[in-house]
Amino acid sequence: MVNRTTKIVMVCLGNICRSPLAEGILKNKLDSDNYLVDSAGTANYHTGKSPDKRSIAVARKNGLDITNQKAAHFQPSYFKQYDLIFVMDLNNYNDVLSLAKNKQDRDKVSLILNETYPNQNMEVPDPYYGGLEGFDYVYELLDAACEVIANRL
Ligand code: 4NP
Repeated sequence: MVNRTTKIVMVCLGNICRSPLAEGILKNKLDSDNYLVDSAGTANYHTGKSPDKRSIAVARKNGLDITNQKAAHFQPSYFKQYDLIFVMDLNNYNDVLSLAKNKQDRDKVSLILNETYPNQNMEVPDPYYGGLEGFDYVYELLDAACEVIANRL
C-alpha cells in the first residue's frame, strides 16, 4: 500500500502569531516524508504576510526558523485537503465549524490544548496586544501540545 502523507493545519485568527508557531513546532517534531504541517487564519487581514516579529523571535530563541511562512486564509476546501485541523481558541473553533459541511468535516476539528488538557476546552490566549512574555507562554503551551500530537501520530 502507498504510504499516504498525513496533512495537518493549525488555525488561529490572523495566522501571524499563534498558528505559525504551532506549525513550526509540530513540523520540527515530525518526519516531513510522512507528515505535512501547515497553518491558516480564520480572518483574511494578514494574508500573504510573514509571521509577527515576536513569534519569529520566540521561535528563533527555541531553535526554530519560521521566517519563510506566509499567512493564508482558511478556506472551506481545507476540509478535503487536510486530515486534522487544530484550532487555538473557541472563536476559531466556531468559525471553522461554521464552514463544515458534514460530520466528517466536523470530526477533523479540535482545540489544540485538549491534547494536553483533555476535555477542558482550554484556549491558547491571543498574544497580539501584549508583550513578548505572552509569546513565550504561547510557545510553552504549543510545544507541550505538539509533543502529545507527535507521540500519538
Ligand atoms: P493570531 O493573533 O490569531 O494568533 O495570529 C492575532 C493577529 C492579528 C490580530 C489578532 C490576533 N489582529 O487583530 O490583527
